[in-house]
Amino acid sequence: HFYGQSPPIYPSPEISGTGGWNEFSKAQALVLQMTLEEKTSLTGGYPNETSGCGGNIPAIARLGFPGMCLQDGPNGVRAADFVNGYPSGIHVGASWNKTLAYSQSHAIGGEFRRKGATVALGPPVLGPLGRIALGGRNWETYSNDPYLTGALGAEAVKGVQDNGVISCTKHFVGNEQEMHRNPRVDPDTNTTIEASSSNIDDRTMHEHYMWPFADAVHAGTASIMCAYERLNNSYSCHNSKLLNGLLKTELGFQGFVVSDWFAQHTGIASATAGLDMVMPYGYEFWGDNLTEAVRNGSISEGHINNMATRIMAAWYFSHQDDKSLPPVGVGLTANFEDRRAPTIDARDPNDAGLLMEGAIQGHVLVKNVKNSLPLKAPRMLSIYGYDAKLPDKSFSSGGYNGWALGLQSQNYRSIVCGFGPIGGQCPAFEPIAINGTMIGGGGSGAVTPVYMSSPFDALEKRARREGTQLFWDFNTENATSNINSNSDACLVFLNAASSEGVDRPSVRDSFSDSLVKNIAADCDNTIVTIHNAGVRLVDEWIEHPNVTAVIFAHLPGQDSGEAITKILYGDVSPSGKLPYSVPRNESDYGPVYAPVTHSGWDRYFPQDDFKEGVFTDYRAFDREGIDPRFEFGFGLTYTTFEYSNLKIENTVDSSTLTSYPMGPIIPGGHSDLWDTIATVTADVTNTGSVEAAEIAQLYVGIPMQDQPIRQLRGFDKVTVPPEETRTVEFKLRRRDLSTWDVHGQNWRLLVGSDYPVYVGASSRNLKLSANLSL
Ligand code: NOJ
Repeated sequence: HFYGQSPPIYPSPEISGTGGWNEFSKAQALVLQMTLEEKTSLTGGYPNETSGCGGNIPAIARLGFPGMCLQDGPNGVRAADFVNGYPSGIHVGASWNKTLAYSQSHAIGGEFRRKGATVALGPPVLGPLGRIALGGRNWETYSNDPYLTGALGAEAVKGVQDNGVISCTKHFVGNEQEMHRNPRVDPDTNTTIEASSSNIDDRTMHEHYMWPFADAVHAGTASIMCAYERLNNSYSCHNSKLLNGLLKTELGFQGFVVSDWFAQHTGIASATAGLDMVMPYGYEFWGDNLTEAVRNGSISEGHINNMATRIMAAWYFSHQDDKSLPPVGVGLTANFEDRRAPTIDARDPNDAGLLMEGAIQGHVLVKNVKNSLPLKAPRMLSIYGYDAKLPDKSFSSGGYNGWALGLQSQNYRSIVCGFGPIGGQCPAFEPIAINGTMIGGGGSGAVTPVYMSSPFDALEKRARREGTQLFWDFNTENATSNINSNSDACLVFLNAASSEGVDRPSVRDSFSDSLVKNIAADCDNTIVTIHNAGVRLVDEWIEHPNVTAVIFAHLPGQDSGEAITKILYGDVSPSGKLPYSVPRNESDYGPVYAPVTHSGWDRYFPQDDFKEGVFTDYRAFDREGIDPRFEFGFGLTYTTFEYSNLKIENTVDSSTLTSYPMGPIIPGGHSDLWDTIATVTADVTNTGSVEAAEIAQLYVGIPMQDQPIRQLRGFDKVTVPPEETRTVEFKLRRRDLSTWDVHGQNWRLLVGSDYPVYVGASSRNLKLSANLSL
C-alpha cells in the first residue's frame, strides 16, 4: 500500500565506522575543532569565479583543510584540456571486462587528481538503468542489467579511489528519463510542474534499481549523488526513506550524499532526510540559514556534526589529507581557453595502451556473413557516411556541453528547451545523429580530449601504407552512382546520438537507414558500423543480403578510428557483447519505449509508475515471448567456441544455510550477503583458427513466482588461442540467489530449493545447464 509513497524514516543514521571506515574518528576530531559556520560551510558549494570546478567547497585554512573541487565526469575530466577521452559507460559495459573497468577508472582517477579535483562525479554512473529505450543518458551507464552494471561499477569505484580521488556514484535513484527531470514553471498557467515521480515498489527497488548501488557502496564509494527526480513522490535529495532508510541504514553507507546540481528544493527537511552536501550552492536553503536553524533550535548541532563528519570521513577515507596532492582545483580554471593560466597536462603516457584496448573491447559484431570480416588485404575500399570523418569543428569551451553545442547535426529536431539552462546543460536540439564521427555523448559526460581519431583518418593511414585505393562520400545519402564495382567492401559509418537534458527522439533515423539501403543496393559487401549512444534498431536493412557485416561500435572515446580499423582488418578479434537487447520494433518495448506524457490531473505532478517491476529488457522479452533481433549478451567474433564440462560446487554446507542473512551491516548490507555459496566452472574451447576472447555468461532461474525466467548472475571474459581450452569461473554469492522479501524486509534465500543454472554465450544461447541445490 506504499506504492508511489515514501514512508518517513528518521533520524538520519550516524556514521558507524564499519567496513574500513574506522578512520572516521579523525573526521570526528577535526569536526570537533570547527565552529558552527565552518561546519555548515562544508555542506554547500559556493560561487567561485576563478575555479573551473563544477562544485567548490571552501577551505578552512586554520585547520589545514584545503577545500574541495567536484568535477564531472564519468569518462574523463570535463571542461579541461590536456586530458584523455575514455570510452563511455555503454562501451565499457559492452566489453564485459572487470579488469578494464578497474584500470580505466584508475587512469581517469589519476587525471582528476593531477588536475586538482577532489571528487570525480562518476565513474561510475549506475542509473539510469536503461528502463526507457529513449532515455537520454542510458549511454552513461554500463548496461540495462543491474548485475552487469553493479559488477563493473564496483571495479570503477575501486579504480578511482585507489588513485587519489573520491568517487561520486550517481544518480541515486530512478533517474530513468530526462523529460521532467527538474521542476519548472509552466508559462501558460504560471504553475510549477514538479519533477517526474519515479514510482518504484519495494521489491523492484531492491532487486533492480538499487542493486548496482549496493555494489558501489560495498566497494567503498565515499560519496553518492542523489537524483533530480522525485522517488515515490518525494524529491530524491529530500527522501528520508531513500537516504536515511535504504542507503544509510540498510546499505550501511558511510560516506556523504551530495545533491545533483540544483536538485535541492527545501532546507532543513533535506538535511534531516539524509542529504549531506548541496551543489552547486549552499546559500539558497542552507549556508547561513542552516546556521540560523541550529541557533533557533530548528535542527540540532549534532545533526550538522553528523553531516560534516560524513564529508570529512570520506575525505580521509580517500586519503585527501595526503600532503603531496596538487592544490585543490589547480588544473581547472574558470576559462580553460585562457592561455595565461598554466595548463596541467593530466595525461599519463602509460595509459595509451589502456585507452586503445578499451576502445577496441566495446565493439560488438552482430552480423558477419559471406566471409566479409575481417577484410582480406583489400585493393579498393569505398567509405560512406557522415560518421566516418571528423566533425567539421572541434570545441573548446563548447566542450562544456560536448558536441551538443557548436556542431551541426546531420539530422535533428530543434526543440525549445523546456528545462531552463540547468547548469548550462540543456542541449539546443534533440539529437538523432551527429554530423561527424561520434566518440561520446553530450552533456556533463562529454569530454574534450587532446585528439579524436576518426574511422576515415585511421583507414586512410592504413590504405596509404598498404597501397589501397580509397573512394569516399561523407555527405550524400544516395551515393550509389559513385560506387566503384571493384570495391572489395563498402564501409558505411553512421551514428545514433544522445545527450543529457533531453531524451532521444527515436531509436532509428531515416537518413541513416536510407544511406545503408542505397549503398547496399549497389555494393554486395556492405559493412555497417554504428556509433550508438543507446539502443539502435537495424531491422530496416539487417536482412539485406548485401549487408554482410554489422558492428555496434558504441562510444569508444578518442581512439575510435584506430580501434575500428584494427577490428575491420582483423589485427584483433572483436570481443564485445551487447549490454542490452536489440528488439525488432519499437512496439516490442510496450510502455517503456518513451517517457510518459502527462495531460490529466498529474500534469503538475507527473507520475511514472514502474509497473513492469523488474521486467525490463531481456527479463521482459523472455517473459512476453518476444523474439529480439539480437538478444542481451550476444556478440560474434572471428572464431567459434564450444562449451563443456559444467561443474557446480556448493562452497557452504547447505544444512548450515539460513533463509535470511545473519551477518552485521557493513557497507553494502549484511556482510554474509557477499559470501560465495557456490562456485560454477565450465570449459570454453576455441574451435576456430584465430585467437579471440569469449564472454561466458551465467544465468540463474530463481525458483519463485514472478521472478524473471533467467537473470544474469555471473560472467567471465577469457582470451583463448585457437584449439585451446580455458576454464571460466563464476562465484555465486548469497545475494545473487536471494530475492527481496517485502514482508520480512530482508533478502531471502530459498534454502532447500533447486536453482536452474545456465552457462552460455548469450542470454538465449545457453549451452550448458544444471541444477544448484541449496
Ligand atoms: C547534472 C548531472 O545530472 C550530473 O550528472 C552532473 O554530475 C552534474 N549536473 C554536475 O555537472
